[in-house]
Amino acid sequence: MNQTTSKKIQYDWVDGVRTVRTVEVPKKKKTDELKKQLKQIKTVWAEIADEIKADVKATRQRDPAAKSDAEVLLLYSGVHALAAYRVAHRMHQNGHAFAARALSQTARFITGIEIHPAAKIGRGLLIDHGMGVVIGETAEIGDNCTLYQGVTLGGTGKDVGKRHPTLGNNVMVGAGAKVLGPFTIGDNTKIAANAVVLVEIPENCTAVGIPAKVVKREGIRVDDDLDQIHVPDPVAQQIRRLEEKLASLEAELADVKKNKEKKK
Ligand SMILES: CC(C)(COP(=O)(O)OP(=O)(O)OC[C@H]1O[C@@H](n2cnc3c(N)ncnc32)[C@H](O)[C@@H]1OP(=O)(O)O)[C@@H](O)C(=O)NCCC(=O)NCCS
Repeated sequence: MNQTTSKKIQYDWVDGVRTVRTVEVPKKKKTDELKKQLKQIKTVWAEIADEIKADVKATRQRDPAAKSDAEVLLLYSGVHALAAYRVAHRMHQNGHAFAARALSQTARFITGIEIHPAAKIGRGLLIDHGMGVVIGETAEIGDNCTLYQGVTLGGTGKDVGKRHPTLGNNVMVGAGAKVLGPFTIGDNTKIAANAVVLVEIPENCTAVGIPAKVVKREGIRVDDDLDQIHVPDPVAQQIRRLEEKLASLEAELADVKKNKEKKK
């Protein structure tokens, strides 16, 4: 045996008789494979750590109550839920769906935030307060978004396949808002607290109410020109038109009568 091989016991069956022999296997191949796997694991953990760092930074930047990185990392349930998600998402991507779900459900039990491991979440997400946040399986979230407590990125129950919304970059979804369906919320858009969004909202808008409507676009107020209370009465309009016609006919008749009398 030389230094590049190691001994291995191998069992064979020869003419119905079990034989035992020692074979030499190349050592280098084994260590190379192990090294490759360790390198892959290190890269994945470095990626996850980098993403968690970005989440902590986002919390420090956007939550005025956050006083230090240590406080955010140790005490913010949104950051804990995201850290668990970032690990669970990798597990899900590598085919360990059950283990990934188990991890996400454990995180939900601890933080009150449910993020499906298959959801796609960008960098620098702030989940403020967090309790009651639900992010569905086919939801997608861009970079630098903010979600407050009680937000649901869910489905209506009518769609199959892609059922959950896609948020662009820098989107803010206020406390208690529900965004339901497989549509897009454009970049830099704000969804007001308690709104229920059922259709696509373009970028740079503010949407409020149930069902949510755009009230601001590019910072300018959008007037809702449909007055639901002072709707014109179509019967009254028709009567007014008939009255106008009658008046013009009466005027014409009066002219005809006048001309007739003149001729006499
Ligand atoms: C929507 C929001 C982001 C403000 O966005 P904005 O672009 O600055 O909009 P404005 O404040 O100018 O409001 C625009 C209109 O929407 C109305 N509006 C604002 N928030 C609303 C809400 N949650 N529900 C209903 N209407 C709302 C305003 O009264 C205003 O109406 P008006 O023009 O008739 O006066 C903010 O009101 C909001 O809801 N933030 C959520 C924050 C949150 O969840 N915090 C929880 C911390 S724990």
